[in-house]
Amino acid sequence: MSHWFYDFLAALGYSHPLHPVLVHVPAGMSIGALGFSILAALTKQAAFRATAYHVAVFALAFTLLAIPVGIFDWQRFYGGAWFFEIQIKAVLAALYLLLIASAAVIGRRCLESKALPVLYFASVVTVAGLGFFGGQLVYHGFTPEAPVQFKIGRQVFDSHCSGCHRRGENILEPNMPLRNAPQLHDFAEFLAFIRNPRMPDGSPGVMPQFGSDRISDLHARELFDYLNFAFVASNRPASAQ
Ligand code: HEC
Repeated sequence: MSHWFYDFLAALGYSHPLHPVLVHVPAGMSIGALGFSILAALTKQAAFRATAYHVAVFALAFTLLAIPVGIFDWQRFYGGAWFFEIQIKAVLAALYLLLIASAAVIGRRCLESKALPVLYFASVVTVAGLGFFGGQLVYHGFTPEAPVQFKIGRQVFDSHCSGCHRRGENILEPNMPLRNAPQLHDFAEFLAFIRNPRMPDGSPGVMPQFGSDRISDLHARELFDYLNFAFVASNRPASAQ
């Protein structure tokens, strides 16, 4: 149903999901509502209470937009598959809508209601959960799971490499993926490469240098072992991937 709209945006050059762009508004506004209601309690100024309420109504308006767009994104980018993160997000989104809509209804009757700060607070907690599971959805899988002996190497990969080499790919130089890279055969060669990365012709590329102040030799070894496990097909039992 919504495909023509995404196709239209893609024709204009925008092919990303829309939900992450929109959700910043309810998330930020919920934090704002809580912030202003705390300010109202501290300063006893009624104007802050009114601001908190107006901000919450704004959050509600954008939630009514963000939820259907989230459903469209889910259909478009995940084929409507009903997996764990989506289930949690559906429950949290329903809860968030209930909380922020209740705040809008109660505040309309009485801005002094003691329920309002509680609802603002609960909406911030819920929105944090929604953000966390949204992040899981997008970034999980960038860093493949591995048995516990690769834990340190996996953490080093997650914090230093996975941004550019998600899932063993290379987002900047697609023809030079990490998966099955020649440097993964020999540790000395690998260490020399991350200390001073080069393009195949020997010229410096875009990959940053990782000196021993950022990744110690010891951690580089752990990283090397993890990369061999995660991204060198011949090192893994067929059942592990
Ligand atoms: C800013 C993006 C970026 C980050 C972060 C990054 N790389 Fe790279 N990587 C590249 C690019 C671009 C290349 C292509 C060569 C170059 O630019 O020097 C590359 C090439 C490589 C290659 C050679 C692949 C081949 O097929 O020859 C290896 C191995 C590698 N990176 C490992 C790592 C490791 C390990 C880390 C983390 C410690 C890391 N990279 C972090 C962008 C990055």
